[in-house]
Amino acid sequence: MSSGARLLDVARVRGLFPGLSDGLLHADGPGGALMPESVVRAVSQAMRVPIANRGGVFASSARAEQLVSGARSAVADLVGGVPSGVVLGPSTTSLTYAFARALGKHWRRGDELVVSRLDHDANVRPWLQVADELGMVVKWAEVDIETGELPDWQYDELLTDRTRLVAVTAASNAIGTCPDVTAIGERAHRVGALVYVDAAHAAAHMPLDVTTLEADFLALSAYKWGGPHVGAVVAHPGLLEELRPDKLVPAPDRVPDRFEQGAPPFELYAGVAASVDHLAALCAEATGTRRDRLVTSMEAVSHYESRLFDWLDDALRSMAHVQVLGSPHYRTPTISFTVSRMRPRQVARELARRGVCAWDGDFYSRELFDAIGANEDGGAVRLGLMHYNTPEEVGHLIDHVSALR
Ligand SMILES: Cc1ncc(COP(=O)(O)O)c(C=O)c1O
Repeated sequence: MSSGARLLDVARVRGLFPGLSDGLLHADGPGGALMPESVVRAVSQAMRVPIANRGGVFASSARAEQLVSGARSAVADLVGGVPSGVVLGPSTTSLTYAFARALGKHWRRGDELVVSRLDHDANVRPWLQVADELGMVVKWAEVDIETGELPDWQYDELLTDRTRLVAVTAASNAIGTCPDVTAIGERAHRVGALVYVDAAHAAAHMPLDVTTLEADFLALSAYKWGGPHVGAVVAHPGLLEELRPDKLVPAPDRVPDRFEQGAPPFELYAGVAASVDHLAALCAEATGTRRDRLVTSMEAVSHYESRLFDWLDDALRSMAHVQVLGSPHYRTPTISFTVSRMRPRQVARELARRGVCAWDGDFYSRELFDAIGANEDGGAVRLGLMHYNTPEEVGHLIDHVSALR
């Protein structure tokens, strides 16, 4: 057993989650993780003290300012960015729409965009809609349906000197595939295109570094890793300076505030900071700055989850009545499958009857499921592991799916 596996004490970790006392088996993490007590406490504490809006000269306004900067610093640490490059907002979807609109002001008819069939619709539709309005050319990076991979070599043919942006996921929330985003980003940068990476699913499962990923924009959703329902986009502040999003005249024009509309949910921002602290403390032996501890802890998470997942993956693949979608090499602990002679909804209902929380459908990965041809049949069933899942739970998952035959 390598050091990574020793570093995550799942019994200790489970004690941090009040939601686990419901006695259910939570295999629905990719749709949203459970929240640790520290996050719940941080949000409720923030609601107990006076918080005004930002920009005043009195104590409760200063408190609001601290909550904003606390959330920005935490998100920056999580992905190796800088706080002044962290734009906070309601969700990955709404922020991506806002960035598509802001970036679109620099694009012209005939400019090109590259999107992928692997992505959640949140990193597809906003780009297609802006491209449609502007008369841009959209190119598709295709998924190898057998393997579930998104080969990076195809970008050589997709990219031209008219490519303005490549939108790609760091990990598929449906089948777990982690494309080589760095290789795609390097190719995109060679032709001068920007790279918008959706890390909403990836962030809960691995250490991320916005620079080594070659991401100009990295989109995140805190509820995927145990935080509240707050989204973020991390970019270089210099790049944000070049963009002019729609905003109210009296609202601040500085970066990153320029991208944030209206009074934000300050109390949830307290929860964002607490959720990043939670991740940083997952490995009890991690030391150094919060960024250092995050990297160590997320490596431990990745190692722990991969070991559990390999067992689940092997077991499901060996079942004659189960068809697993894809077999990507690098992946998160997320698997989608169908069961012979059962609709995915029926399977999810049967699992729910046995105390398992599992999603069915296309998980908003609409393009992928259309390409596979699975949407007419109700999509698939998805099981996703998190750092609070145990080997015993994986054993139960295997038994429950096996019993569906
Ligand atoms: C990979 C991925 N991207 C984007 C989203 C959308 O996130 P949000 O709900 O914050 O808009 C999700 C949510 O399921 C996701 O898994």
